[in-house]
Amino acid sequence: MKCFLYAHFLCLCLLFSLEKSYGFEGRENAENHHSHTIETSSLFPSTSCKSSTKILSNNDTKASLKVVHKHGSCSTLYQDKTIAAPTDTEILLQDQSRVKSIHSRLSNPKTSGGNDVTVIDSTTIPAKDGSVIGSGSYIVTVGLGTPQKELSLIFDTASDITWTQCQPCAISCYKQKEQKFDPSQSTSYTNISCSSSICSSLTSATGTPPGCASSTCVYAIQYGDGSFTIGFFGTEKLTLTSTDAFDNIYFGCGQNNQGLFGGSAGILGLGRDKLSLVSQTAQKYNKIFSYCLPSSSSSTGFLTFGCSDTKNAKFTPLSTISAGTSFYGLDFTGISVGGTKLAISASVFSTAGGLIDAGTVITRLPPPAYSALRASFRKLMSKYPRTKALSILDTCYDLSNYSTISVPKIGFFFSGGVEVDIDVTGVFFGSSISQVCLAFAGNKNATDVLIFGSVQQKTLEVFYDGSAEKVGFASGGCS
Ligand SMILES: *[C@@H]1O[C@H](CO)[C@@H](O)[C@H](O)[C@H]1NC(C)=O
Ligand SMILES: *[C@@H]1O[C@H](CO)[C@@H](O)[C@H](O)[C@H]1NC(C)=O
Ligand SMILES: *[C@@H]1O[C@H](CO)[C@@H](O)[C@H](O)[C@H]1NC(C)=O
Ligand SMILES: *[C@@H]1O[C@H](CO)[C@@H](O)[C@H](O)[C@H]1NC(C)=O
Repeated sequence: MKCFLYAHFLCLCLLFSLEKSYGFEGRENAENHHSHTIETSSLFPSTSCKSSTKILSNNDTKASLKVVHKHGSCSTLYQDKTIAAPTDTEILLQDQSRVKSIHSRLSNPKTSGGNDVTVIDSTTIPAKDGSVIGSGSYIVTVGLGTPQKELSLIFDTASDITWTQCQPCAISCYKQKEQKFDPSQSTSYTNISCSSSICSSLTSATGTPPGCASSTCVYAIQYGDGSFTIGFFGTEKLTLTSTDAFDNIYFGCGQNNQGLFGGSAGILGLGRDKLSLVSQTAQKYNKIFSYCLPSSSSSTGFLTFGCSDTKNAKFTPLSTISAGTSFYGLDFTGISVGGTKLAISASVFSTAGGLIDAGTVITRLPPPAYSALRASFRKLMSKYPRTKALSILDTCYDLSNYSTISVPKIGFFFSGGVEVDIDVTGVFFGSSISQVCLAFAGNKNATDVLIFGSVQQKTLEVFYDGSAEKVGFASGGCS
């Protein structure tokens, strides 16, 4: 295996980053098997960006991009004060819309997506409030076209089509930070014709049948929160890094786009359909990618395509829930809190099924699993004063009087005997010391799928292997 040959080089790199990590912030003061002791100030991002010490190296076999939170101090979008960051409550509301749409896509796979779209026309999809964001929180910058234009795209593991807003924005474009992509200024842009078989395959990738305008294929994607993009389906040169560029990548050139998408230029689709970027670059990367979501919005992570060092990773097979969908399904088998595995019947997890999603913020658990987690967490946190709920989060604390706290460790178990410890940065959500909340929520219905969300993935390196159909986890991924 090619991957194996590079392991030797990777070791050197790893040693280097380990050495660096000793000089790390020292956020965690003390450590035992059951709890983390942390400074409460470390629960909040800083106003200045602190780049990861991890070196993004690129190779014949891999390409690494920097990952930032779209509203954090490491994002260029953040520096644009005209693009307002949402409040905690808004983020949770948007997250709930995304979860609702994932649940409905899985319970009615045939009717996913919704409306038929035949023309690029603002009346075909109802225009909703344009201030909603439902498409994930993490951004990478890629190059599109010839000459190449830099675009910041949200990466999404639960959708497939990569798209960006395109000039002349025939119907509508939302506000984005970078200049909008203009296909007429690129020598490598081509339109896909309506009669092409790739045009028909849009139905499975987007849930919406393609349309046709002056014999050019028209795609439409509607996201859970009412955001949408409609435009020409084309091909372009996509440049990931200085060494890795791909000609003729299928992508959406959006002419009618609504929703803020946080000021980003569009979406990078990393789902499992054959039109996703992962499938389109399979010859080079073999459907392998990994990422590390940063510990806070004021630090950076990475997204790597191709082989990475999986030495410390633990893998679990993709589950059948994901067959024929965009999703990466996982079989959860248990949860531990404070070093004790909770007594939750295996059928609770098998009834719901599970998946991992970088675009959902808060992990959603089947109702009995959430109740057990909450009861145990509250008990272990009983010395801290509780406060009112924050939207869907019902276990919140007022930590105003504490400079350090002791937080119970939380672990997830997956089939194959895999145990993953959630980082201490993946336990709480909330931007005020007077209302810090357990970052988990219960699903309404026992049959709704369990979603492993982005807060709990922070600082883990998450490996996706679409060829071997497995997902792996290694801790301490970003540093
Ligand atoms: C490949 O990547 C490793 C670390 O990931 C690095 O040490 C090595 O120098 C790279 N090789 C090349 C040819 O860039
Ligand atoms: C792509 O198709 C659209 C609609 O037919 C047309 O306006 C545009 O000029 C075409 N672009 C190219 C490069 O052919
Ligand atoms: C913080 O401490 C003060 C003084 O002991 C007390 O009056 C107040 O209720 C405490 N606040 C909280 C949220 O615990
Ligand atoms: C839960 O979901 C199932 C299957 O989708 C449905 O039949 C049932 O009515 C739902 N129950 C509630 C309480 O919503």
